[in-house]
Amino acid sequence: MSPDAIRELARHFPGRWDHHYIAAKIKSDPLYEAVLAEFRESELPLLDLGCGLGLLAFFLRHNGLGFPILSLDYDQRKILEARRVAGELGLERLDFEHHDAREGLPAHQGNVSILDILQFFKPAEQQLLLTEAAERVAPGGKLVIRSGLRDRSLRFRITVAGDLFAKWTFWMKAAPVYYPGREDFEQALSDHGRLSISPLWGGTPFNNHLIVLTKATAG
Ligand SMILES: C[S@@+](CC[C@H](N)C(=O)[O-])C[C@H]1O[C@@H](n2cnc3c(N)ncnc32)[C@H](O)[C@@H]1O
Repeated sequence: MSPDAIRELARHFPGRWDHHYIAAKIKSDPLYEAVLAEFRESELPLLDLGCGLGLLAFFLRHNGLGFPILSLDYDQRKILEARRVAGELGLERLDFEHHDAREGLPAHQGNVSILDILQFFKPAEQQLLLTEAAERVAPGGKLVIRSGLRDRSLRFRITVAGDLFAKWTFWMKAAPVYYPGREDFEQALSDHGRLSISPLWGGTPFNNHLIVLTKATAG
């Protein structure tokens, strides 16, 4: 996204914290470009779990991807903000709903994204969420996850500190509970399709990885 486009999107979020967060996040984090690259060739509907302020949906629309997007988050304030901004921008086929992903997922067949939320789930809840998400991926579709990966690196320790800071500043409602390791993704997902796990930290100090499950096309 160009600096002007980032400024224009951030302008729709008048709260000082949201405004600066959005501008800094899109500029510094390679996340949304990476997810865009995964979904660029797809026309399948997307289910985005733990969508926050809806940045992924706005970013994909800005880059010309027009498939329907249902974005869920259990933070009602963020859902209301995202809905308001989608209305202001006149974006269609974008829905934002208040929903706790620990209470099961809605019916869906398409692509699924889970970006930076797994650390708020207990291990058993993560396994259930990953399984339910994988079951909602259509043939030829993808489940795209970004997560800090539990390992022995300094990056991992910085990731934990960053999430604790987000809780301390009340940006996140919850403190991190458990970071999945490579083996947790393999256990939940490898029976559902092809799994790839690769670093995605860009210029950040965090131990972020992109985890992509690709389902074979039907037939
Ligand atoms: C770090 S933010 C990531 C936001 C968004 N995925 C992104 O990357 O731009 C994590 C989000 O997950 C949401 N979240 C955490 N636990 C959740 C749950 N059980 N159900 C739904 N959303 C949840 C939080 O409210 C927060 O908005």
